[in-house]
Amino acid sequence: MLVFAASDKGGTGRSVTSANIAFRRALTGDDVCYLDFDFGSPTAAAVFDVPDARGGLHSYLRGQAQEPVRLDVWARTEHPTLRHRPAGSGSLALFPGDHSGGEFAVGKDSVLRCVDLFLRLHSEFDVVVVDLSAGRSYAVDLALEVTARPELRGVGARWLIYHRWTRQHVIAASGFAFGPRGILDGGAARGHDVEQLRGSIRFVRAAVPDPQTPPWSLAPPAQYAWMVSCDQDLRRLAADRGLGHTVTLGSVPLDPVLQWREQLITDEDVLSSQVAGLETLKAFEHLAEKLTDDDVWGTP
Ligand SMILES: Nc1ncnc2c1ncn2[C@@H]1O[C@H](COP(=O)(O)OP(=O)(O)O)[C@@H](O)[C@H]1O
Ligand SMILES: [Mg+2]
Repeated sequence: MLVFAASDKGGTGRSVTSANIAFRRALTGDDVCYLDFDFGSPTAAAVFDVPDARGGLHSYLRGQAQEPVRLDVWARTEHPTLRHRPAGSGSLALFPGDHSGGEFAVGKDSVLRCVDLFLRLHSEFDVVVVDLSAGRSYAVDLALEVTARPELRGVGARWLIYHRWTRQHVIAASGFAFGPRGILDGGAARGHDVEQLRGSIRFVRAAVPDPQTPPWSLAPPAQYAWMVSCDQDLRRLAADRGLGHTVTLGSVPLDPVLQWREQLITDEDVLSSQVAGLETLKAFEHLAEKLTDDDVWGTP
């Protein structure tokens, strides 16, 4: 299955959340790969703690390299607790972006190379996560173009659209999915069945302060009341803009570790050192599970 991670804005939590979803799926035994299609700002290698890993994927798409660079995260990560592949886990491969990232226009050759890459990875991996440049970018155009091709008919594709829990982000994410020149518009222009494409989109709320859980629930009364009321307003806005509960895959709490550092959250971070929140870990597990839940997406 192809999973496209998209967002209207940068800094939404798209890469960190998607990397943690990929990590969780691999831990449960799936073979997973992660493709850094953020041409302008490739950060996936840093999130996986893989040093000097950039290079190749963008050059490959542009026809400047025969093959993209491919790294085994379990073998290459410098994350202290991940150096050995955990028992029962699947493979976890990273295809990093180029060192000197920069947006580039996509020609017909890039489309063909991308089709070929997706088909090969689809046959090797259970889940192929593609982290796309923010906004109405060339990377998003490429993903829509490639998934509309007859060669990819029969390859399941799902879209996760990330946004933060603010007014601006909710409005932006809605416009990005459903508005002019958004995902649905762009898909229709490339021959997608719009209703099918709509059915393959779910939203992910990242870095959300939940007023019902500490520390926010322990705020002074006036501040707490303000947060609850603001949260309700945002829920109404989200529902009005087509980002309601039924199309939301999940919500990741604001976590101090991720606020300070872009990284994978391990069980040790939560259970041993207790630096990261249990709710954060559960949110990633939940998202990873929901990715292939027929109750969420309908039976294929
Ligand atoms: N749940 C979270 N809680 C707190 N900070 C987060 C959370 N998720 C992501 N972040 C932080 O937000 C910033 C942007 O995240 P990133 O994944 O790089 O966004 P994007 O890929 O959308 O540009 C990073 O510093 C990241 O660590
Ligand atoms: Mg990113």
